[in-house]
Amino acid sequence: MKAYAYVDRIALERLVEIDQPDPVPGEHDVVVAMKAAALNYRDLAIADGDYHIEVQPPLIPVSDGAGEVVAVGKSVRRFRVGDRVCAVYLPDWTHGPIRREVAARRLGGPSNGVLRELMCASEEDFVMAPRHLSFEEAATLPIASVTAWQSLFVNGSVKPGDNVLVQGTGGVSIAAIQLARSAGARVISVVRTDKHRETLYRLGASDVLLSDDPSWHRQLFAVTRAVGANVIVNVAGGETVSDALLAASGAATIHLVGYAAGKMVTFDMFEAIRRAAKFLVAAAGSRASFQELVKLLELEEIRPLIAQRFSVRNHREGMDSLRRGGHLGKVVLTFD
Ligand SMILES: NC(=O)c1ccc[n+]([C@@H]2O[C@H](COP(=O)([O-])OP(=O)(O)OC[C@H]3O[C@@H](n4cnc5c(N)ncnc54)[C@H](OP(=O)(O)O)[C@@H]3O)[C@@H](O)[C@H]2O)c1
Repeated sequence: MKAYAYVDRIALERLVEIDQPDPVPGEHDVVVAMKAAALNYRDLAIADGDYHIEVQPPLIPVSDGAGEVVAVGKSVRRFRVGDRVCAVYLPDWTHGPIRREVAARRLGGPSNGVLRELMCASEEDFVMAPRHLSFEEAATLPIASVTAWQSLFVNGSVKPGDNVLVQGTGGVSIAAIQLARSAGARVISVVRTDKHRETLYRLGASDVLLSDDPSWHRQLFAVTRAVGANVIVNVAGGETVSDALLAASGAATIHLVGYAAGKMVTFDMFEAIRRAAKFLVAAAGSRASFQELVKLLELEEIRPLIAQRFSVRNHREGMDSLRRGGHLGKVVLTFD
């Protein structure tokens, strides 16, 4: 089988095609023919040597993927040949709160990821893909959508009537908009460009505000009848957190998900104290959260948004596109 790997050094220009023997499943293993993979910011961070944990070569990169079960070990109970599955990003985090040791094994770095035609792993490392989604759509779920789910409904508890402020239009942001809306919240998008306004409305945003408009906080308090945002999903970190805090209601929950604008977060403690703000840091989500997410997506027929598709052979173009940004939704690679 073919795979893509960093063999001796981790850097995008060193990602090469390799041949490996086809895997034979152990007693509790399944073999999955990968059909699609989805890119995340971490795939770039790892390639750039700028990730928050150490990752060493050799490595098969990319964390998110979906495919079809083509072989099962003799004691496998959860899956059959022909099942459509998603790989779990943090396979050792099955349920409950995260513990340091279960966060060590991460698909796509430091553990081997999904850029391979056949992935062989324990049956515990997969979940059933939502029935209504294509492989490409299902491949987008493991990090972005599970993180949005875990933040909104496990770390936090979004409920009908909440005002949920979501920053950005990337994978986590789109999932957060769709999930918060399905929970009955009012969703307000704050974005850097006006070009996605109509799509954001279609996905579930009630209001779209521009972050470089100095009056965006005033507009937010106007549309929330002076309450402000009870829940904030911040994907960029850095100084954007202090700006987001000014939109918060009393006792607001602020989910710190990402660091696209900077890993050092600053905010004014006086503003935080005035609101008794609660800051919660996201760390993806458990397999149980993934399974709950799948149920909701099926029930509400929610489809993740794909921004662009590339053949897995053109993974470099996909990575370049992710780096340029400005996309709405996920960048996907297909195995052909
Ligand atoms: N903690 C966790 O478990 C976890 C899980 C998933 C992701 N993340 C992190 O969360 C972030 C978003 O992930 P993603 O998958 O949604 O990424 P993505 O699809 O690549 O989208 C990038 C997002 O970051 C926003 N952004 C980038 N630079 C910005 C800036 N200077 N100011 C404001 N916004 C900026 C973009 O906003 P525009 O739409 O305006 O371009 C977009 O929403 C990344 O940093 C990622 O590493 C963390």
